[in-house]
Amino acid sequence: MTRKSKIVVLISGNGSNLQSLLEGCHSKIINGEIVAVVSNNPHAFGLKRAKTFGINTLVIDENNYKIEKKTFHEKVYEAVKQFNPDLVILAGYMKILTKSFISSFQDKIINIHPSLLPKYPGLNTHQRALTAKDEISGATVHFVTEKLDSGPIIIQGEVPIFPNDTEQSLRTRVLEIEHKIFVATTSLICSGKIKRADDKVFLNENLLGKQGIKYDNSIERMLKE
Ligand code: GRF
Repeated sequence: MTRKSKIVVLISGNGSNLQSLLEGCHSKIINGEIVAVVSNNPHAFGLKRAKTFGINTLVIDENNYKIEKKTFHEKVYEAVKQFNPDLVILAGYMKILTKSFISSFQDKIINIHPSLLPKYPGLNTHQRALTAKDEISGATVHFVTEKLDSGPIIIQGEVPIFPNDTEQSLRTRVLEIEHKIFVATTSLICSGKIKRADDKVFLNENLLGKQGIKYDNSIERMLKE
């Protein structure tokens, strides 16, 4: 077994994705250790979740840097950098990272997005899928690049949309698949099975297509190998 990857997770809110990562590390599905959780929001419930697991938490309250936006981003950078992480995970982090942050952690930042990218980058994904009368939605984990929600896709998990769905019911269903694909991706990265080179992603040295891995039971089996 290789050494555990050092992971820093950035959050802004509830932190249900963080919870699944904390549990994934605890149960050793992920060969990694969350060394810190950083939040821009002092009231983020995810901070409590991290503390329950005894994880270091840091708050960079953006309200303290309303005028000095640059300082806010520098503080976030410093907060993360001090841990020298192998992987930086955006788990519902609602701020846009600076170019210098992204280049400092080249190939090491992943994000989860609640749609089947490239469909619906940005906000209000569930309402947009309902308005478009889509029959399928889902979530995407991708490497982060300077272009918002557009980096190389690692994995996607699909869920059905039912005729009586509301934004809330769809959000709940998508979140369930988010938790699964986020743990799966993190596990595969920490075990060295997923690698990135420029805009390409490889699973066990095999080049993935533009939509990445389609999540199914075979991925769960791979995690146990
Ligand atoms: C998730 O839907 C994630 O995809 C999006 O923000 C939400 C965060 O949820 N970026 P949580 O804080 O992990 O519960």
